[in-house]
Amino acid sequence: MTTRLLILGGTTEARRLAERLADRDDLTVTLSLAGRTLDPVKMPVPVRSGGFGGVARLAAYLTENAVDGLIDATHPFAAQMSRHAAEAAAATGVSLLALRRPAWEAVEGDRWTEVGSVAEAAAALGEGRRRAFLALGRQELAPFEALPQHAYLIRSVDPVEPPLAVPDAVYVTARGPFGVEADVRLLAEHRIDLVVSKNAGGEASYAKIAAARRLGLPVLMVRRPAVPDVPAVATVEEALAWTDHLAASRAKRGV
Ligand SMILES: NC(=O)c1ccc[n+]([C@@H]2O[C@H](COP(=O)([O-])OP(=O)(O)OC[C@H]3O[C@@H](n4cnc5c(N)ncnc54)[C@H](OP(=O)(O)O)[C@@H]3O)[C@@H](O)[C@H]2O)c1
Repeated sequence: MTTRLLILGGTTEARRLAERLADRDDLTVTLSLAGRTLDPVKMPVPVRSGGFGGVARLAAYLTENAVDGLIDATHPFAAQMSRHAAEAAAATGVSLLALRRPAWEAVEGDRWTEVGSVAEAAAALGEGRRRAFLALGRQELAPFEALPQHAYLIRSVDPVEPPLAVPDAVYVTARGPFGVEADVRLLAEHRIDLVVSKNAGGEASYAKIAAARRLGLPVLMVRRPAVPDVPAVATVEEALAWTDHLAASRAKRGV
């Protein structure tokens, strides 16, 4: 008898959790990816890829695959998937845990302006020409197309196709983790005067924030969207403990 786990991934934490669970005989672990990244990092457990098709289909997946535990380890900005996970778990009675890394907090020397969305960040660039570093997903760049007066340095995992219809944009494709020294060099080399970032939390993409602090640059920091109120932990270790508890309680009940 094994405990079946579905991890909703797309984050470093999801991969690390899967790594830690991959060799367990008492668990059958599947990792779910949205399928957005062209060449995803290799995963240590079987992967299913692509959207489920909404809450009802996710609920059906959980039932059909006899999933016992659902771990929502999606990115803090993947709010729709988190909502769907909460609703499907409630509908099916599957145990749910959210693994959410803490948000970054401003420290001395940071010059953050918090905004509610990427569109708000774009609007906050203002009239005068800025040289902005956009560390945003490919799908989120549209609001900046309406602001062709600025110069953009855009870093994303996959190429931005088609490129933005603005005259001054430079693209860097790279996958984190990034280093502070390298990000300081990157921002200086492109004479960046402002950084736009989502408050992702975690270490892999923090370098640009530390680099902005080092260079005294302002940051437009996009606040996290609201997430459902479900049992949540902040670390992979805590998610492992939750998994142990789930597996042990099923074993005790002989199911
Ligand atoms: N948003 C970010 O800034 C960000 C950054 C890094 C990584 N990611 C990762 O990229 C993926 C997509 O993010 P998003 O912001 O576009 O999500 P989202 O807006 O919350 O989700 C949109 C839809 O994509 C599908 N989806 C999302 N995550 C999925 C997963 N792990 N497995 C299967 N389907 C998934 C679901 O489709 P259906 O409704 O059809 O089921 C969901 O309704 C997530 O896995 C997330 O962890 C996101």
